[in-house]
Amino acid sequence: MKTGIFYGSATGTTADVARRIGKLMNVADADTHDVASTAPSAVGNYDLLIMGSSTWGNGEIEDDWYDFLDGVESLDLHGRKIALFGCGDETMSDTFCDAVGVLYERLKGTVAEFIGEFPAEGYHYDRSAASDGATMRGLVLDEVNHPELTATRLRDWTDKIKNEA
Ligand SMILES: Cc1cc2nc3c(=O)[nH]c(=O)nc-3n(C[C@H](O)[C@H](O)[C@H](O)COP(=O)(O)O)c2cc1C
Repeated sequence: MKTGIFYGSATGTTADVARRIGKLMNVADADTHDVASTAPSAVGNYDLLIMGSSTWGNGEIEDDWYDFLDGVESLDLHGRKIALFGCGDETMSDTFCDAVGVLYERLKGTVAEFIGEFPAEGYHYDRSAASDGATMRGLVLDEVNHPELTATRLRDWTDKIKNEA
């Protein structure tokens, strides 16, 4: 199963997490793509798409995702799998990691299969578009307030998506 990582990152946090996921998943640097400088058609090269965005504004995806998503959301990705991740800040308690939920909603129409849901346990926030309450649509990380939790979360999540892929 060929895996590609696609991320949008304004200040480098999600880019760094994408590289860490790449190491844990044995994904080559050449298959780890900043959506700011990647054509949407690149998703066609992969069976498993690991896609990540930080959350900005008031619960929005990182800016570089807009053009990329415009190109991807109309594709037929039947038979492919998508695993989502995101970086945010729990103190933005009404929009914590909303970008993961936004990516999910916009990519649903591709009919790809989503994998990599993650327990919402251990996070502290009031509301998140990434979650239905018990689970998150993907891995969410708070590198601002809880970087010490990231390594374990990354390991648990990548183990899970290796099993589900
Ligand atoms: C102006 C601003 C708005 C933000 N809005 C949100 C938000 O609504 N929800 C959230 O979870 N995090 C929010 N964040 C936190 C960022 O998502 C977090 O710092 C993230 O690690 C940045 O990742 P990046 O460097 O990859 O873009 C915001 C940060 C800033 C500076």
